[in-house]
Order: sequence, then structure tokens, then C-alpha cells
Amino acid sequence: MRMTGRSLLNNDLNHPIKMRKIILFCILLGMTCMAKAQSLPVYLDPTKNVEERIEDALQRMTLAEKIRVIHAQSKFSSAGVPRLGFPDFWTDDGPHGVRPDVLWDEWEQAGQTNDSCVAFPALTCLTASWNPQLGMLYGQSLGEEARYRGKNMILGPGVNINRTPLNGRNFEYMGEDPFLASRMVVPYVQGLQSIGVAACVKHYALNNDEEYRHQVNVVVDDRALHEIYLPAFKAAVQEGKAWGIMGAYNLYKNQHNCHNQYLLNDILKRDWGFDGVVVSDWGGAHDTEQAIKNGLDMEFGTWTDGLTMGATNAYDNYYLARPYLKLIQEGKFTTRELDEKVRRVLRLFYRTTMDQTYKQGFLCSDAHYEAAQKIAEEGIVLLKNQGNVLPIDLHQAKRVLVVGENAIKMMTVGGGSSSLKVQREISPLDGLKARLAGKATVDYARGYVGDVTGNYNGVTTGQDLSEKRSADELIAEAVSKAKAADYVIFFGGLNKSDYQDCEGHDRKSYGLPYQQDRVITALAKANKNFIYVNISGNAVEMPWVKQVPAIVQGWFIGSQAGVALASVLVGDANPSGKLPYTWFKTLNDVPAHRLNSYPGTWRADKKVIDETYKEGIFVGYRWVDKDKTKPLFAFGHGLSYTSFDLSNLRLSQKKITENDQLTATVTVKNTGHRAGAEVVQLYVSDLKSSLLRPKKELKGFKKVYLAPGETKDVDITIDRSALSFYHDKLQKWVAEPGDFEVLVGNASDHLPLKAKFTLQ
Ligand code: BGC
Repeated sequence: MRMTGRSLLNNDLNHPIKMRKIILFCILLGMTCMAKAQSLPVYLDPTKNVEERIEDALQRMTLAEKIRVIHAQSKFSSAGVPRLGFPDFWTDDGPHGVRPDVLWDEWEQAGQTNDSCVAFPALTCLTASWNPQLGMLYGQSLGEEARYRGKNMILGPGVNINRTPLNGRNFEYMGEDPFLASRMVVPYVQGLQSIGVAACVKHYALNNDEEYRHQVNVVVDDRALHEIYLPAFKAAVQEGKAWGIMGAYNLYKNQHNCHNQYLLNDILKRDWGFDGVVVSDWGGAHDTEQAIKNGLDMEFGTWTDGLTMGATNAYDNYYLARPYLKLIQEGKFTTRELDEKVRRVLRLFYRTTMDQTYKQGFLCSDAHYEAAQKIAEEGIVLLKNQGNVLPIDLHQAKRVLVVGENAIKMMTVGGGSSSLKVQREISPLDGLKARLAGKATVDYARGYVGDVTGNYNGVTTGQDLSEKRSADELIAEAVSKAKAADYVIFFGGLNKSDYQDCEGHDRKSYGLPYQQDRVITALAKANKNFIYVNISGNAVEMPWVKQVPAIVQGWFIGSQAGVALASVLVGDANPSGKLPYTWFKTLNDVPAHRLNSYPGTWRADKKVIDETYKEGIFVGYRWVDKDKTKPLFAFGHGLSYTSFDLSNLRLSQKKITENDQLTATVTVKNTGHRAGAEVVQLYVSDLKSSLLRPKKELKGFKKVYLAPGETKDVDITIDRSALSFYHDKLQKWVAEPGDFEVLVGNASDHLPLKAKFTLQ
């Protein structure tokens, strides 16, 4: 007879000799465990509280060991404490995939064969999805790739506010609005850290342009600082519980931000209660005493002269290395500040390298490609669709012409530190060819020549983009092919080369480079089914906007670029992305430029460039409302292949007190013939205030998915924080009693539903 587990156990226990043996075994096991537990020092005992373990480890460390853990030992790693069993700590960029390994002390490739990754869409695209769940998916997927690669910290995400469309790094950030950026950064951080990989939120703070980034001293009023530039960092710290934050290169109040009393000690650590590590941006530390006193915990990338050029293997000469040790030995400093830094570093170790509970992770898994594609499809924004040119009608499209360098150019190589070495990157042209195979012929014309190089730190695209024909010849070819096509799709925009969407510099002008305007105008004349897909992380000038019927913002979307773009263009995916920044018509419409407050004024005495943010809190759509400028495309704008009706806005209460929450409910109906998603956006307007406030500010949103004809009620809840402003005299957030209005719709310039309420 077959015995069940239970009867087997009963049977065993009923046997007296076996029973005695089991008891003896248990006693011995218990004694061994107790002995082991007793011999385990507190710092290694996982049953002990982390803070206790930190203190125990700290008092066992020598001065030299303490100094060693607070600065780099290679381009991307810092030392652990081998004697005590703390492994080395490895960081890596960030934020769109895990950067390939470079040599110990060189920027060139280490030449590994296991560091080709999945490139996820740039953070601008993630943010344009207005879907926080995708932030979580992004963080988790990236975390798994990082974990597999043995990285303990990802240098990202970035949340510097888009203040000027010229900023070379906007593509790595989360748009212009502090609320949107906050909602999107928190799940990214949580997702990443749930895999055991620390986030290092960057670049804290006020690093809103790249030109002269080591010299710019930002002068900004306290309201703009707290209302616009800090909220996403604060959310990442307080809600996301980020384990790391990276100081920015630039200065604030004449102090470098990697050792800045106001930003690091006062705001980040004291006011926000940040318990993680402050990491310097690579080469962002400049002075030992300031680094000791002003909040820096881990110094990276310095070399000897304070910049990123200098002697090799100079790690012992870092500001927080021998020079610091010397100051302690000379009695100029006690170990008080050092211990505080080491505590934070040890906390980071316990959260990452010393936590054995995390799984190993995966590289280039199907799930990661799927995640990258989903994020891309939800982030692509349909800006214009006159005459419903899109989606491409597969019954009519027999001959599709693709034009433009960006249809074939790899975009994952370049752009600075976020550059990647990918396992694959599907170009828009290849994506369309695959999707249209057997349905239409896909022809290609170059149209223009941009930048044919493709190399970053030794990673080469291997693409031969050389082209001998003249601009006129290329346009003539494209136009003649366009005349014979059913659809013409032009992939243009920017790329990841210097002075484009790339770290280190800003763009020199707002217009499209490489004379693309000429090609676009000619193609728009040649074929009425003309679609312009803009590949960039920034807005660009579109003098031809009226002549082009369909415009898509395609971002830099990584490995699955071509698949995701093809799926949106043919309508497999219904676009649901919304702009995370205002698309101004001209550069002069952008407040930073209109007010002549970019890139600042050189001050020879201090060797800094004062960049005064004259527009204050009026960035992006806040400026549009104030100045009554009409942008080309508003913040929050994005079309769909279906239509939605928003109606019946109702509020849970008409009067609320300081501690109440208020829920706005709105009914959304898909009135078209395709399934799709709409982003319900809620803005708050303070009808009367003692200080000047923006006309409206985004304070809630929800993405809702609806089948054709389907209706859903969407709830958005706000609280006092949605009504508050930063009172610069009182130096705190204040919600003034009085009347407010909620404005609900699907773009900052389309908010047809309104309801008033009173804060008592
Ligand atoms: C960039 C950082 C990056 C670091 C390491 C710096 O130049 O500003 O964003 O994480 O390099 O590559």
C-alpha cells in the first residue's frame, strides 16, 4: 500500500529507537546552531538590526579601511572591507540600460563578451507614457540586467527639469513638470531597488543644461527651487526611498553641488531625512575640506586635478583619500564626519552587496525585450494626424517609402555616459520591413546625411553610413521615389552626437540639423500621405508644421525601436503617449531664452558663470499660461487612433479642511472604433492667493484603457499638498484657505471640465 506523507511520519515516530535518534539529532543540531549564532559577530548576523550591524562594523574598521570605502578604486568601483567580508562595490551607468564594462582605469572597453544589454527607451519616453506601472517594470527589468552583470548601483534615473530644449541631456530626464517627474521616478527607483540594485538619482540639483556644466552657478529663487527643481528628487528620496543620490557638476550659491551645504546637508539630509549615500558626479569633487563638511559620502571619477583629466590610478590622491587621512592625522578633523560617511556606505553595503536574499538576475531575456517594447509603444506620441493619415492603411499601402538617416542609424551608441553596447537594436527601417513583409514593398532613400560616425568609448556601431552624393542629389532621389509611393515616412530629428542630444554640450540652435527642413518640405509637396517621425529627446523647431499632415514623436527607444515604431505606425499599438514637456514654436518663446537667462554671465572673480533662472516658477506650461504664448504642442498633448469623451466631473466634497482628501471622478468613454488608452489629467488652479501662482498645475493623472464603446469612471485623489506653494518668507509649504478649481481634460491646453471647491 502506498503511504501518505503523514502516515509515514506517524509510522516513524511510533518507533522508539528511531524516535530517540531523532531527539538526539535535534539536540545536537540546536547546539550547533546556537554555537554558530553565538560566534557570529553582530555585523554579520542577519537576525540583527541593520543599524546595530553598522555600528558593530564601524568600530571594527581601521582608519585606513574607513577612508578606503569612501572613494573610488577604479572608474566605476569602490573598495569594500575584505578583512571583514564586505565585497567591493560596483556602480554603472545608467539610466537606459547597463553600460558595457570599461577598463579598470580607462574609458575604453574592457572587451567583455557578456556585457551586451537590452536598451530600454530613454526616460523621456518612459515619462511620456504617463504610466507609473511602466516605471516599475522599467526599474525591475533594468535591475535584473544590472544584477546579472554584478552591478550594485545604477547611476540613474535623472530628474532634472526640462528648462530649455537645447539641453543636451533632456533625453535622459523626465520632462518639465515636477509632479509628473515625481510620479514616474518613484516606481523606477522602487522597481530597481526591489532587485537589490541601488538607484543613484541624478543630478542633484539644478543641472538643467550641459554647456559649461562645471562652471555654471545657478541663481534661482527659493520658490522655483522648491516648487520646480526639487520635488522629483524629494519624491525619489522620501517615497522611492532611494539608496543613492548623485551630486551635480554645477554650483548653487557659489558652492559645487557635490559638496554643497544647502543642498546636501540642509535640504537632503536634514529636511528630507535621506539615509543613503551622496555620490559625486565623476570629477565633481573639488576640495577636501568641503567634501568632508558639506555632505559628500563617496567620491568618484576625480583624478588629481579635480576634473576628469589627470594622472592615472590616482585614487589614493582623491580629495576623500590621502588628503582626508592627512587632515585627520594632523588633528584638523576628528573622525566624526568620516564615521557618518562610513555609516552611510555600510548601510548601502547591507542593502546591496551584503544582502544575500536577491536572485542573480537575467541579461537580454525575452521579458526584458517585451518590457522595452511596451514602454516604447506607450511612450510614442502622436502629435498631429490631419486627415487620419495614420495608421497606415494596410489595404492601400502597396509601396511605402522610408526616408532619412534616423531610419537606419543606431541610436544606442553615443550621447555620453548613457551610451550602451546592445545585443540588438532594430532600426525603424528594419522594423517596418518586417511588419509590412508580404503586404507592401518598403523602399528607402537617404534624404540627407547627418553624422556618419558611430563610436562611443570604443563601442562601434559597425554601420557604414558614408554617402558620396550631394544634398541636392539625395533630395531629388527621395522626391522622385516619394511621388511613386503610397506612403512616405521620414525619420529625422536629432541624434546622439556632440551638440545634439548628448552629454557635455547643448544644442546650438532649435532648428533641425543637417538641412532636414529642406527635405521635409520637398517630401510634403511630393506626397500627401507624408508622415514625419521625429527621433529626439527634445523639441525641435518645425517651420513646416502646417504642410505635414502626420507627426509622431519617436524618442530614442532602444533595442525594440523599429518594432515599436512600426507597430504604432500601422496601428497594432494605438498611440497613448503624451508630451512630458511643452513643445514651443520658437526658441524665443521659451522663457529661459526670452528672458535672456541662458547660458549666463561669466564672473571672472569667482571663475563661474552665473545663470539666473529669471523665469522663476514659470517653466514650460506655467509660462505658456502666464505669457499667453501658443505652443506648437502643449504639455500633456498626444493623440490617439480612437476618440475619447470625458464628462461628468464630480467632486467628493465641495469644502475640505487641511487634512482631508478630495476625490475627483470623471467618466471616460471610448467613442471610436479601436481599443485605446487616454490619460486623464487633473490640474489645480488657486483662484486667489497671497503670492503669484501659476494659473494651473498638474496634480493628478490616470491612464485608462478602454475597448471601443466602453465607459469607465476614473478617480483621482488629491490632498493638501496639491494646493500648497512654497512660501519663501516662511520657508515652508503653505496651503492657503480659499477657493480652488480643478480642471480636468487630456492635455494642458484641453481641460474642458471644471469644478470649484473651498479649502477651509
Ligand atoms: C555623468 C554622469 C555619469 C558619470 C559616470 C558623468 O560624466 O554626468 O551622469 O553617471 O559620468 O559615467
